[in-house]
Amino acid sequence: MRSLIDITDFTTAELDELISVALDIIARPDEYANKCRGKKLATLFFEPSTRTRLSFEAAMYELGGNVIGFSEASSSSAAKGESVADTAKIISQYADIIAMRHPKEGAPYVAAKNATIPVINAGDGGHCHPTQTLADLLTIVREKGRLNNLTVGMCGDLKYGRTVHSLIAALARYENINVVLISPDELRIPDYVKDDIIVKNKMSYSETASLEEAIPSLDVLYMTRIQRERFADKDEYERLKDSYVLTPEKLTTAKEDMCILHPLPRVNEISVRVDEDKRASYFRQALNGKYMRMALILKLLGEANTPKEQREGEGLVYDEIKCENPRCITSTEQELTHIFRKDGNGEMRCIYCEALKK
Ligand code: NCD
Repeated sequence: MRSLIDITDFTTAELDELISVALDIIARPDEYANKCRGKKLATLFFEPSTRTRLSFEAAMYELGGNVIGFSEASSSSAAKGESVADTAKIISQYADIIAMRHPKEGAPYVAAKNATIPVINAGDGGHCHPTQTLADLLTIVREKGRLNNLTVGMCGDLKYGRTVHSLIAALARYENINVVLISPDELRIPDYVKDDIIVKNKMSYSETASLEEAIPSLDVLYMTRIQRERFADKDEYERLKDSYVLTPEKLTTAKEDMCILHPLPRVNEISVRVDEDKRASYFRQALNGKYMRMALILKLLGEANTPKEQREGEGLVYDEIKCENPRCITSTEQELTHIFRKDGNGEMRCIYCEALKK
C-alpha cells in the first residue's frame, strides 16, 4: 500500500511525474473528469484548514469521485477518546483514500500503519506538510520554469512551519539549490531538517535574521506565518509575531522576476499592497495545490496494491518509553510502542515526529 506521509516517500522521478500529470490536468481537464468515479476520499481534519481540505475535496469532485469526512476533531469520535489507529481502521471500510490533518506530529504515520487504504498527510503538527510542497513545486515550475539553479529564501517561522520542512526536503532532490533561511534566532530551522536534510545532502545554505539583506539574491521568496498555535509560551509569540512584514518598499531591491510564495493563511507577514505586484504568486499557488492533489489522488489510487512499507527497515530500535516531544503522537496514543531509528549522525530519532532521543 502506498501512502504519502513525508515528501521523501516519493522519488524525484515520482515528483516530476506528479508535476507532469498536474500540467496535463490543467491542459485537458475533461480527460480526467471521470477517473475516480465510484471512489470516495475521506477528509479527516482534526485541525483547522481552508485551502488544504477544500482543495482536496474540489480535487476529488473534479475527478468524478465523492467525499466524506469531518473538519474538526470535536465532531469526530476523537472527542470521545478514540485513537488515530482505530479511526484509520474504521475509515478504511468506508472510503478508498484518506487525507488527514492532525495537531500531533506523526499522527498520519500511525494512521497509515493501521489503514488498509492509502493515507495522505495533510499536515501533522509542526512536522511536515508534503501536499503543500507539491503545490509549491508546481508553482515554482509554472512561475520560474525550473526546479534547479535557484536561490530560495524561506522567511518566518522555520521552527514550527511544517511547509518549510517539507519543501526543503523536496528541494534537496534538485540541482544547485541555495537555501537562505531567514528567521529570528528563536524560530530557526529544527536540527532534524538542518542535519538530516540540508547538511546530509550537501545543500548550499546560509542563515540570517535580516529579510532586507537576503532579498536581492533571491529567485524565490517563501514567506510563512508565525505559527501561534504551536507556541507553548504565548508571550514569546507576541514578541515574535511581527518579525517580518513584506512590503512593496522592501521589494524594491528584489529581482524583477523573483517569485513570492506563501502557503497561506497570511496574517501580517505580507502587506496586502504586495498583492498587486506581478511577483506575488501565492493565490496562484493555492490553485496549483488543487491540481497537484488531483495528480496525487490518481497516483495513490492507481498504486493501491503496490506493497511498500514506508520508513521500515534496518536500524529500528523498539523502546517502551514515550517520546520527549510533547507534540508527538506517542504522547496521546496509549498503545504506541516507541520506535527510534538512527539518523545520519548515528543519533536516535523518534520515527513519528523525528525528535532526538535525549
Ligand atoms: C499551512 C499549514 O497549515 O501548515 N497552510 C496550508 O496548509 N496552506 C501554513 C500555515 O498554517 O501557516
